[in-house]
Amino acid sequence: MGELERVSGLPLASFRDEHVDEQVARACRRLDVPDVLSLARVLRSDEAARRRFRRSIAISHAAMFRDPEQFALLEEELLPRLLAGTARISAWSAGCSDGSELYSLGVVLERLGALNRSLLLGSDLLEENLALAQVGAFDGVSDAVRARARFERRDLTADGPPPGRWRLVLCRNVAIYMGPAARERLYGTLVAALARRGVLLLGRSERLIDPARYGLCAIAPHAYERVGG
Ligand SMILES: C[S@@+](CC[C@H](N)C(=O)[O-])C[C@H]1O[C@@H](n2cnc3c(N)ncnc32)[C@H](O)[C@@H]1O
Repeated sequence: MGELERVSGLPLASFRDEHVDEQVARACRRLDVPDVLSLARVLRSDEAARRRFRRSIAISHAAMFRDPEQFALLEEELLPRLLAGTARISAWSAGCSDGSELYSLGVVLERLGALNRSLLLGSDLLEENLALAQVGAFDGVSDAVRARARFERRDLTADGPPPGRWRLVLCRNVAIYMGPAARERLYGTLVAALARRGVLLLGRSERLIDPARYGLCAIAPHAYERVGG
């Protein structure tokens, strides 16, 4: 797999073994090659195939207001609570894909009259996702929201958190594709990014079995508050 990691530019060891094996088998069938080394050779010279392989590993499905009940929770409970305690709100969308998650949050903050005191950061592993995110071509997103959003490349299992302490961290539908060791590093990174009483929101199929181990406590479905310093 080492050669495939180099050619694809992806930390394949971070993803669940079965997920990687399945995507490798599919790519071999699609490209009609017998094994991983031959696959790596084809991907090195075929950019379209390489892109497709990268996307198949780092599943990038995303949409504006994906899982609307989570945005309702943000708008009705989590954001009012966070906004009450601070002059500024910093929010990080970790594993932001095409940026739709961060832009949806920006739309909510604008509705709450808090956009101009918001700092919005999105990060992702794939440069191709970030290129889409920078453009932000989504219906219903104002220029003011677009102007607030910043994006950067960050490998959540290797690069650590962005500088600063974040009041809100969204990391939805990222951990599900990771192996246990990488997921542990991911959670460490997310917690390290959180300000005290900051909130981490995971995806609707993700939850922490023992939040206290990370210095967090559950405050709503899939939402955790940092309790320690
Ligand atoms: C399924 S998408 C989720 C997008 C968005 N959070 C949502 O829920 O709609 C998963 C995203 O995580 C990114 N990702 C996967 N592994 C990553 C890593 N190690 N570091 C940063 N981003 C990663 C992928 O590139 C992809 O864009």
